[in-house]
Amino acid sequence: MKTKSAVYAIVLSLLTCFMITSCSNNSSNKEQKTTSSDMKKDSTAISKSDFGTTPDGKKVEQYTLTNANGIEMSVITLGGIITTLKTPDKDGNMGDIVLGFDNVDTYLESPYIGALIGRFGNRIAKGKFSLDGEEYTLATNDGSNHLHGGDKGFDKVVWEAQEITNASGVGLKLTYLSKDMEEGYPGNLEVTVTYMLTNEDDLEIDYTATTDKKTIVNLTQHTYFNLSADPSQDILDHVLSVDASAFLPIDGTLIPTGELRDVAGTPFDFTSPKKVGKEIAVDNEQLKLAKGYDHCWVLNGDGGMKEAATLYHEKSGRFMKVLTTEPAIQVYTGNFLDGTLTGKEKVNYAERSAICLETEHYPDAPNKSEFPSVVLEPGQTYNTKTTYSFSLK
Ligand code: GLA
Repeated sequence: MKTKSAVYAIVLSLLTCFMITSCSNNSSNKEQKTTSSDMKKDSTAISKSDFGTTPDGKKVEQYTLTNANGIEMSVITLGGIITTLKTPDKDGNMGDIVLGFDNVDTYLESPYIGALIGRFGNRIAKGKFSLDGEEYTLATNDGSNHLHGGDKGFDKVVWEAQEITNASGVGLKLTYLSKDMEEGYPGNLEVTVTYMLTNEDDLEIDYTATTDKKTIVNLTQHTYFNLSADPSQDILDHVLSVDASAFLPIDGTLIPTGELRDVAGTPFDFTSPKKVGKEIAVDNEQLKLAKGYDHCWVLNGDGGMKEAATLYHEKSGRFMKVLTTEPAIQVYTGNFLDGTLTGKEKVNYAERSAICLETEHYPDAPNKSEFPSVVLEPGQTYNTKTTYSFSLK
């Protein structure tokens, strides 16, 4: 009997040992593993981990990029979503300044949090536009209008990713082929978006696209920033400047009326830095329509790289500058966040818990010939650049 139980004990302990080893192997597969190409001498790094699977069975991966100064940004291949972005405050403490989630499912129901937006960022009235006399019909996924590329826009597809490490920093090249008539848009559109996190603490975003049929394109990035790194606090104390003398007033469905209105003397004047909350609640017809700021500002300057906006959070000292080649910027103060989504830090994202600064062409441009064109022809290359530059003040 004794010998039998001794054998059992040995078999049992060997089995336990085996299970523990295979379990720990499994979990280490899920943990971040630094890839061989990385950990350069300058201490930049790129690591890759599993982030989950989409309902249609596609694997989603997360890349974490660290620049030479320790600024860390994670991006998932689903929607090219920036899931975390950690920058230091004035005391040197790192904090995550973007809203996000720790799982695929919540991202798929989130209002574009952190994601790349396409084919057309912002709204197209009634989901209709025409090119050369041919009318195209898109999903009306925002009341009677089309918003941010439709039911399954670029925020909900899985992108191919390629790591970049060079002298300027670390990055990720994301590519996606949007097939002819995907979401109702004409042309096979080959899209490349490159995120570079430089050692100068800039997040440079470069968007290119080509088509084989005349189409429309307006790409942007929909990160929700809260520079306090504490999304339980609202962003009304953030100081914003926007280099724009005019904005686009909207109708009751948030479509621009076509007017370019001077910001002077209105709550939309951010030509000098001003707290977001200073006039957000004043009696103003435009603010009422959007429940806050959710408007497109027409940037001063030409199509070259120019300063579009700055955002400053005094308590933490975090300062962010937005530069772009785009003619406009949508400023959205999280008016539709209602506390129902719980973020990665287990905080319920409430109204005004973040601000989006989306560089872009004007909303509804396909239906307003007086707005800068968003048409892309075969043989042309769509190319825009936007930089979010991080520092302390
Ligand atoms: C954009 C729009 C907003 C809202 C958000 C997502 O910023 O302008 O109206 O739809 O996206 O909720």
